[in-house]
Amino acid sequence: MTNSITLSAPDYTDADFQLLQSIARTQAGICLPATKKALVYSRVSRRVREMQLSSFREYLAFTTSPAGTVEMEKLICALTTNVTGFFREVNHFDHLRTVVMPELAPALRKGKRGRIWSAACSTGQEPWSIAMTVAGSFPEIGNYDFRILATDINSDVVARAASATYAPDELEGIPEKDRTSFLKLYDGAYRFSETLQRLPVFKVLNLNAAWPFHGSFSVIFCRNVVIYFDDETREALWKRLAERIEPGGFLYVGHSERVANAKLCGLVSIAPTIYQKEA
Ligand SMILES: C[S@@+](CC[C@H](N)C(=O)[O-])C[C@H]1O[C@@H](n2cnc3c(N)ncnc32)[C@H](O)[C@@H]1O
Repeated sequence: MTNSITLSAPDYTDADFQLLQSIARTQAGICLPATKKALVYSRVSRRVREMQLSSFREYLAFTTSPAGTVEMEKLICALTTNVTGFFREVNHFDHLRTVVMPELAPALRKGKRGRIWSAACSTGQEPWSIAMTVAGSFPEIGNYDFRILATDINSDVVARAASATYAPDELEGIPEKDRTSFLKLYDGAYRFSETLQRLPVFKVLNLNAAWPFHGSFSVIFCRNVVIYFDDETREALWKRLAERIEPGGFLYVGHSERVANAKLCGLVSIAPTIYQKEA
């Protein structure tokens, strides 16, 4: 018989929601407006039930205690929105193929280091689309010093992305020629080829905390994540990202996003949602 605690709806007050707003803001830079109160309930109540607790108050008391470090990570995962898709906002992949690769490929052949960052990679459709685009236009890419850094704050989505494996109904958006070239069917699921798997490196990373790596990028994809941040957090992030773009390199942002402080960051808008770092 199912335990009655797991069946009943956990208590959820305005004070609980306010604490969740404050946690999301301080831990991840994510703003949760009042309109998200019900959405947050539906996402977090599962964690409350799984821990066999009867209220958000108890759950949050545990999560914010020294014993709650692991649960805090799970809470942050529950508070993120991970909608994505292969070749989402395809103009960025067209730009990568037709403008970036023709310059990057000869430079890599001469021994240059090449890096692209997918800075909020969710379940991996973005970095794998980058990998297919790059390998599609430069098949010997694996022989050169080229990597795609793929990061996200949510450890669950990063693990899914790193598995390189997708169900048949998740392949929407991948052109037929790329499916044939880069995906193989194993036990009912599709997996990216070993050659393609050499390109991305997956890591958990909070964009609003310290970044434990050096070096700069030819292109940064930072798409559909700053919409969850406030203006101050967003502008600070654009500035930090711009500092990591090579002169002449590019920043791609989401379709509803813009870099308000572009000039201050040394970025020039060259097309909708595409910025170039001054040379
Ligand atoms: C809507 S998805 C966008 C995925 C992909 N960039 C795209 O455009 O399809 C937003 C992602 O941002 C991540 N995210 C939210 N806050 C973050 C933060 N502070 N640091 C890193 N990633 C964050 C979420 O976990 C989520 O996977």
